[in-house]
Amino acid sequence: MADHDHDHDQSQSQSHDPRRGGRKVRVAVVGASGYTGGEVIRLLLEHPGVELAFLSAERNAGATLGSVHPWLRNHPAAAGLKFRPLAELEEVDIAFGCLPTGALPEHLPLIAERARRVLNLGGDFRLRDQAEVEAYYPKTAKNPPIEDFAYYVPELSPSVPESRFISLPGCMAVTTIYALYPLFAASLIDPRVVVDAKTGSTGGGRGSGEPPAERSGNFRVHKLYGHRHAPEIGQAIAEFTGATMDLRFSTHSLDVARGIMVTAYTDLLPGVSPLDVKRAYAKAYVGKPFVRVRTAPKAPQDFPMLKAVVGSNVAEVAIAVRDGQCVAVAALDNLVKGAAGQAIQAMNLICGFDETAGLPTTAVSP
Ligand SMILES: NC(=O)c1ccc[n+]([C@@H]2O[C@H](COP(=O)([O-])OP(=O)(O)OC[C@H]3O[C@@H](n4cnc5c(N)ncnc54)[C@H](OP(=O)(O)O)[C@@H]3O)[C@@H](O)[C@H]2O)c1
Repeated sequence: MADHDHDHDQSQSQSHDPRRGGRKVRVAVVGASGYTGGEVIRLLLEHPGVELAFLSAERNAGATLGSVHPWLRNHPAAAGLKFRPLAELEEVDIAFGCLPTGALPEHLPLIAERARRVLNLGGDFRLRDQAEVEAYYPKTAKNPPIEDFAYYVPELSPSVPESRFISLPGCMAVTTIYALYPLFAASLIDPRVVVDAKTGSTGGGRGSGEPPAERSGNFRVHKLYGHRHAPEIGQAIAEFTGATMDLRFSTHSLDVARGIMVTAYTDLLPGVSPLDVKRAYAKAYVGKPFVRVRTAPKAPQDFPMLKAVVGSNVAEVAIAVRDGQCVAVAALDNLVKGAAGQAIQAMNLICGFDETAGLPTTAVSP
């Protein structure tokens, strides 16, 4: 990669600026035949500044885009697109990593050689504490990253990372982070927090073996303890607010294809008023186009709900305060704001596009 080698002599910010001379940003989607990969493609097909240069698949290598993701087959640009083995990866400006957790480390040297920047949607390199990596990502622990990954939440990270390697947050983790961040940032709550998260079936990826007939009409536990997003939430809250939390985090499986809803139960510190809480949420998300605080909700449909966010890159957040307690709720589409849309938002900021380019704010309903 001649141009890339030359770039190592330049400053970090210049060397990895993927947008060159106003030309389109060349993008690879690695793991493009899966659910998040398909969603990255769906959104990027409508993005004005991007060329879909390479789509990788493993079992689906050789297949056409329209045969694997029939919902994309009518886009005029879909006709010529095919999945190829990852070994054939071309030189690109940005690679979106959409591989199952545990699969990226072995492919990273190749991807790092051929992509200027890597935006990873998978969980492999989010956690910094080695003991936590070993406990929650044992496969990853055997393959330490060849370079450090920056953990990036566009609304909360202090700046756009300079690093070539960026980890986007986990879907249930970031829903919880959006719900809780203002309370910790303004030091309004006790560290002990109980979070109840519910997620749709696409959260498990396309390879999830659960028969639809068994998910249909059911509502069940996913994990009561030990979900790998729990340490990520603690790490992110500490990084963005300096607070240490004592988190109880349980997850449940919903009978919907898309969507996550999180309910977080917290105790306010003595003397904290409902107005303090309201102001903290307003301050945290002012000027953030994709985190919308529902102010003064009264009727059930005023609160965050899946039908207001699914299909969009919006996370909705709301709070209810009573008797020294605050219940915070947040909802988002796991495949958009929880994955593909979040990564494209990051790409927009890295490449100097408008933050909102190619990203929907309206939901698909009924
Ligand atoms: N699903 C969500 O809501 C969500 C949200 C946020 C983050 N994430 C993270 O995003 C990542 C992808 O999730 P997903 O739901 O899109 O998974 P998925 O539907 O299972 O798709 C995985 C993709 O990776 C390819 N692949 C599988 N094993 C491979 C290997 N060893 N080498 C090369 N390619 C391989 C698959 O190709 P073939 O199918 O052609 O074999 C497919 O394209 C995961 O790390 C997940 O944790 C998921």
